[in-house]
This record gives sequence, structure tokens and C-alpha cells, in this order.
Amino acid sequence: MWEARPPTYEDHMQKPLIIANWKCNPSTREQAEHLFGTIKRETKNINGVKIVICPPFVWLPSLNGLSLGAQDCFWEKDGAYTGEVSPKMLKDLGCDYVILGHSERRKYLKETDEMINKKIKTALKSDLTPILCIENISQLKKGTKDLLRKEQKKLIIAYEPVFAIGTGKPCTPEKAKEMKTAIKKIINKDISIIYGGSVNSQNAADYIKMAGFQGLLVGGASLNPAEFIKVVKNVARACPVVELRSLRDCAPKLF
Ligand code: PGA
Repeated sequence: MWEARPPTYEDHMQKPLIIANWKCNPSTREQAEHLFGTIKRETKNINGVKIVICPPFVWLPSLNGLSLGAQDCFWEKDGAYTGEVSPKMLKDLGCDYVILGHSERRKYLKETDEMINKKIKTALKSDLTPILCIENISQLKKGTKDLLRKEQKKLIIAYEPVFAIGTGKPCTPEKAKEMKTAIKKIINKDISIIYGGSVNSQNAADYIKMAGFQGLLVGGASLNPAEFIKVVKNVARACPVVELRSLRDCAPKLF
């Protein structure tokens, strides 16, 4: 589903963003279509939350009807780079977002901050919204090096402490909020910051309401449709758009 224009911080203030990172799952197209179809059907009447699904590249062409993101992209727009996928190709497949610098890619694929910085710049040129994953301020600074303030504004920063990823041991909303405040001191303050790391239906709303994040990056729980739908419903219930027009109204002390 194409978006008419790249989303802004204000959009995410109105509607928390819930991004599903499917990682290297599921193994067949049929399973991917089933998972996507269930999420689409069960969330179609929920207006207060923006859902983005990030499947493996190969399932992207089979999925439509919810916003799509990729889990990586290359830093050149085309050329002799065997195995790589460019931002332009992703845009052509209907993607609006791309996750960059995920800790699993930093660890297993040896991605460096310099590579991630180049990827962000190329993604922005193709009108993809980069979701920059960081676990510390050094990664934030190096990943966003040389970006103009107006370019910074187009990013989403995902605070993903490695100890919390896939471990079932989430960072507390209080601790995560401290990092969110530290990030805001470094970068354009009108930038969307989301939390990721062992998010589930029990803790999801706390990161939005208590810690003031603009959204969530959900890994394991996004592969279980019942659990993911509960995450979406609980966040929507915690910040209803009808009664409370924005997150600023929902938790004014946080901003
Ligand atoms: P998790 O993964 O929700 O399974 O901890 C989050 C992520 O890696 O983005």
C-alpha cells in the first residue's frame, strides 16, 4: 500500500506506529500470505494505530493492503553488486519503510556504522523512510553523520537494547524513556523514536503511554497473529484517537 507522502513526526504523534519485523520468517509464501491476511482482517477497524509489516524481501510482492517495509537495503541504487537489493527496487515493490542497522545485521553480517550511514542516505533519496536501529548514542551519531536537520526529521529511530531482543527480557519503560530523552538531546527533537525488544501484548502500551515513544518495533510477537493483534488493540485502546486527539494530549507530561 503506497503512501501519498513520507510520514512525519506529527503523523506518529497522532497514531502510534507498530512495525512488525518478521526477520527470516516465515518459510513459505503461503504462510506469509496467511499471517499477513489474518493481521489485515483483524485490524481493519482499528484506526488509532499505524501498522507496518516488514517481511523478508521475497514475500513483499505477494502482500498488499497494509504499509510495507523491508529489513535492509543496499547503499547504491544499482550496478554490479551481487545479491544486493536497492532502495529503488523496494520502492517499486510498494515499500515505504526500511529497517537499517538492526543489531542482528551488525552482529552476523558485520555491518558497520559507516555502511548504515550510506544506506540511510540512499534510502532517503528513494523516498523510503529509514528506521535506524541503535542501542547507544555512538551508533546514533555515526549512523546519522552528515545528515541535514531536515533529513534527520525523515528518520525513525528505533531504540533496541540488545539484551532485550528476542530474550523475553524487555527494557523497563522507565529505562527506555531515559534513552529516548538522551536521543532527543542529540538529534532533531521532532523525530519519531520507537522502542523494540521483547515487546508483547502486556507491555506494549506502557512504552507509548508511560515512556512517550511514538511506536514499537515488534519481532517475535509479530509472528503470532493473535498476540500481534492484541499488541495493536492494546496500544489503540491506551491512546484512543477519538477521545484523545494525539499522544501529546494522551500523555502531555512526556513532551
Ligand atoms: P523481539 O525483536 O520483539 O523478538 O525482541 C525485536 C527486534 O529485533 O526488532
